[in-house]
Amino acid sequence: MTTPQEHLVAIRALVEPYARTEPDADPKEPWAAGKQTYRSRLCAVADYACKHWAGDFLEVGCYGGDTTIRLAGIAKAHGRRVLAVDNWRPGTEYALDTEVYPSFLKTIAPWRDVIDVLEADCHLPETRAAILARGPFAFVFVDDGHEDAEQLFDNVTGLMASRGVCVVDDVFMPSTRRTIDEARVVVPGWSAALYVDRASEAYMVREGA
Ligand SMILES: C[S@@+](CC[C@H](N)C(=O)[O-])C[C@H]1O[C@@H](n2cnc3c(N)ncnc32)[C@H](O)[C@@H]1O
Repeated sequence: MTTPQEHLVAIRALVEPYARTEPDADPKEPWAAGKQTYRSRLCAVADYACKHWAGDFLEVGCYGGDTTIRLAGIAKAHGRRVLAVDNWRPGTEYALDTEVYPSFLKTIAPWRDVIDVLEADCHLPETRAAILARGPFAFVFVDDGHEDAEQLFDNVTGLMASRGVCVVDDVFMPSTRRTIDEARVVVPGWSAALYVDRASEAYMVREGA
């Protein structure tokens, strides 16, 4: 059986070539660091996940759907689906306006046969319950709120929901790294998080998966 550490070595080999092409982080725009190729990295790892684990994909925090459709392409090729969760609420830290949700629906229209949309606040227990009822997932991507308690809640949901890989974005923030560690204490079975230079996201693999 492949151990989580062996999976993480394989995942590093997939994501490093993309990450190496990322430019130096601009201290004035830390949130943009590692973001030029992250969708390609996610797709490579989602494809890897399909080869090792059963289940669909979950994206928590979808914005305009540009990552959702990339994941949908991989999902479709493997006979999987994508559960897309967001509340698309105007006025959050992402400065969403009322156009984002209609734009999301337009973007995902060609992939609607493999994308399920859950329009909900992902920080509510009932949303977590709905997500878990649809799982377990082969591949999870967590990419929404940045407030500590919210991040911890999301990371715990992501780890609970995944039977294979869980990816958490925005690791340029110390709070993201801290809440990843805290979530791994709350949810047993996630021994290591992989951070790759110049990548904006961390990768985890469930033990015994
Ligand atoms: C950074 S964007 C997601 C980007 C997307 N994953 C991508 O790669 O293109 C963050 C998203 O999180 C969503 N979000 C923030 N707080 C949320 C909450 N409480 N419940 C659901 N979604 C939330 C926002 O509406 C926004 O669309």
